[in-house]
Amino acid sequence: MKEKKLTDCYKRVIDYVRISIIDGCNLACTYCMPNGNGCKKITTLSKEEIVCMGRAFANCGIKKIKLTGGEPLLHKDIISIVKELSSIAGIDQVTLTTNGILLENKVKLLKEAGIFAINVSLDTLDEEEYKHITGQYGVEKVFNSIKACVEHNIPVKINCVPIKGYNDDSYIPLVELAKKYPVDVRFIEMMPIGYGKNFMPVKQEEIEEKLKSKYGMFYPYHGIKGNGPATYIQWKETENGKWKGNVGFISAVSHEFCDSCNRIRVTSDGILKLCLCFDKGIDLKKYINKSDLRQLEEVIKQGILEKPKHHNFNTKDGSLENEQKNMWEIGG
Ligand code: 5AD
Ligand code: SF4
Repeated sequence: MKEKKLTDCYKRVIDYVRISIIDGCNLACTYCMPNGNGCKKITTLSKEEIVCMGRAFANCGIKKIKLTGGEPLLHKDIISIVKELSSIAGIDQVTLTTNGILLENKVKLLKEAGIFAINVSLDTLDEEEYKHITGQYGVEKVFNSIKACVEHNIPVKINCVPIKGYNDDSYIPLVELAKKYPVDVRFIEMMPIGYGKNFMPVKQEEIEEKLKSKYGMFYPYHGIKGNGPATYIQWKETENGKWKGNVGFISAVSHEFCDSCNRIRVTSDGILKLCLCFDKGIDLKKYINKSDLRQLEEVIKQGILEKPKHHNFNTKDGSLENEQKNMWEIGG
């Protein structure tokens, strides 16, 4: 059978979808949801909706699905969602992005359900700093979750968003984890979305300088092929296999990678989003029909053709409406 490929107007192959399955979260990160859930009504996609979308995406050519949020482990059906998506023909990887607080005792079930890899958000290893950023203590819980993933042979990536004045001294302690454990540590540049607009991003180069003064000169590392935009670095020791994990950067604004964008998103209210930067989206929920996916597939294929060439975080060219939604709705 001919391999299905989903291609946009700029010849980019789109094979990766990130689905925000729930917009609620159990933390209150200062740059994301500073007031926590408060009296906000929580929106979730149902298991049936998610699986229908997953089947339609697979039929269109999507190969990888990332479940995100909010906090996806708060979804009551998370294990069976992972299980059902993993069993769809054509879907090679089902992965998860979580804050790791509720992860430890779900690791075994997720593994059995077929999870391929897990991203854990952890901005600092210092409990007080963690509380300052997220509103509660949790480093120990998150760390135990990471260890449980390692024990179950689930590849883990730790994502840290550097925030000026909050976690400046945490870069080295986090990088030490990649030295000691088989986990990758990535620094994610703060994006001007939602409350993130109130923070100055820390420059990749600034973090690189700190790492250089601790570990010496590093080199680009091309040995990893993940789902996309991270660039990795290595030191001589890693070549000798002394470091167990890798260190990388995702700097969407300052080091734009839109030319090689391979992804689309679905928000927690079922809107297909073609680019993180813009408000434009298509309501997929309207087209969900369990017994006939053709209309949904057609809407997805047509939608992909509208995918913008690149974000305008730097240019503000005004040709499209900028995104007004928050990160927890879009899926971080
Ligand atoms: N810029 C970059 N990352 C963000 N996240 C939330 N808001 C932003 C932002 N403005 C990240 C969190 C977490 C994931 C859910 O999204 O740190 O890793
Ligand atoms: Fe929750 Fe992630 Fe937002 Fe923090 S950044 S409040 S963990 S969704």
